[in-house]
Amino acid sequence: MAAGKGLSLVELDEDGVATAFRADVLAGLSQVQKAIPARWLYDDAGSRLFEDITHLPEYYPTRAEREILAGKGAEFARLIGPGRAVVEFGSGSSVKTPLLLSAIDPAAYVPLDISGDFLRAAAQDLAAKFPGLPVYPVEADFMREVELPAEVSGLPKLGFFPGSTIGNMVARTAVDLLRTMRATLGEGSRLLIGMDLIKDVAVLEAAYDDAAGVTAEFNLNLARRINRELGGTIPVDKLRHEARWNDEFARIEMHLVSSEAVHFTVAGRAFGLAQGESIHTENSHKFSRRSANAILLAGGWTPFARWTDSDERFSLILADATIPRSAP
Ligand code: AVI
Repeated sequence: MAAGKGLSLVELDEDGVATAFRADVLAGLSQVQKAIPARWLYDDAGSRLFEDITHLPEYYPTRAEREILAGKGAEFARLIGPGRAVVEFGSGSSVKTPLLLSAIDPAAYVPLDISGDFLRAAAQDLAAKFPGLPVYPVEADFMREVELPAEVSGLPKLGFFPGSTIGNMVARTAVDLLRTMRATLGEGSRLLIGMDLIKDVAVLEAAYDDAAGVTAEFNLNLARRINRELGGTIPVDKLRHEARWNDEFARIEMHLVSSEAVHFTVAGRAFGLAQGESIHTENSHKFSRRSANAILLAGGWTPFARWTDSDERFSLILADATIPRSAP
């Protein structure tokens, strides 16, 4: 799997086919509402397309988060303090990290990512930018508890989880991950986490259905990947990308909608889509101040500072692993 946002390890069988991918696709296509876990969007082509998405005029989250990171350095320094080991979850290309590291004077940087190649290249880049800073890359699946390098065991930790990737998980998975992060980081740790905000539906839908069609390509690439890697015959030209707001769950959903009744096979199994039927491929939950606090608290983190960009589109929240003594 390519770097960045992939959420779990990929096991290969003797044919080089990802058994987990095949199992998820076959199970997902057998459901009443067909659905495939979003982590499979990120093969090499998908990861490149996601990188392109972050530069689109409609896709505000990356710019908004960067604005906060660039503008609030003095406050991060005051509230986080120096001397922490910064542990970045799913560091990918670590593009936002220098803004944080240059603000807080950390003692070490530990990028965690599932893709070793990507991770080592990004770690080298970062070490070159911050010559005095020890960098200890760890190739790991951050959805599971990770044993951090012995060199940082005595240091207080700051977890860093930017990008609102937490929003790609349903609440139950998000809470499990927050608890796992707490276990990885230990007592006394803090977490700086990006969470995208609920806003005008037109702005949200445009961010996930851009005029240049890059997000559509990102979504359709999943169907192409199934054809490529699982011997599928999905008629990709009959599928259309759709980004829809689900108000009940406060999330943007990506779907692949069939323009006509189609039949196809995947790994030798037959499936069909009626006209207008969809395969649900991603959720991107958006948060209110309260829902962000609720999910962090459920995950074992007490939020104590919050920043938004100047247009109030995106938030960065600082939370503490310690349960306050004042809490009843
Ligand atoms: C990675 N993740 C936070 C992105 C998001 O905004 O939910 C993935 C994405 N999907 C379509 N555009 C961007």
